[in-house]
Amino acid sequence: MPKITFITHDETVYEVTADIGASVMDAAFDNSIPGIDADCGGQCACATCHVFIDGDWAAKVPAREEMEESMLELAEGVTEFSRLACQIPITDALDGLKVQLPEAQH
Ligand code: FES
Repeated sequence: MPKITFITHDETVYEVTADIGASVMDAAFDNSIPGIDADCGGQCACATCHVFIDGDWAAKVPAREEMEESMLELAEGVTEFSRLACQIPITDALDGLKVQLPEAQH
């Protein structure tokens, strides 16, 4: 199973394993990672799963779709590296993925 690393705004590191086909949000939620509330349950309707994906990994995840772009407008501190974790499906190619959590979600 792929390993995903979550790094909180205060640099606390959580490494978890994730199921193929689940989302990065699912991996966080299932492991009680602080800062991922996932209020909408992964329906791309809350932006409480906002994460930053390092540039090297950005090319390995699917591009943002229109709905994700719209929801990110509601998130704080959005950058070019911002993604909604519920919109990123786990694949073998994401083994080792590192994501950072925004300070606004602590
Ligand atoms: Fe609500 Fe991702 S869990 S937008």
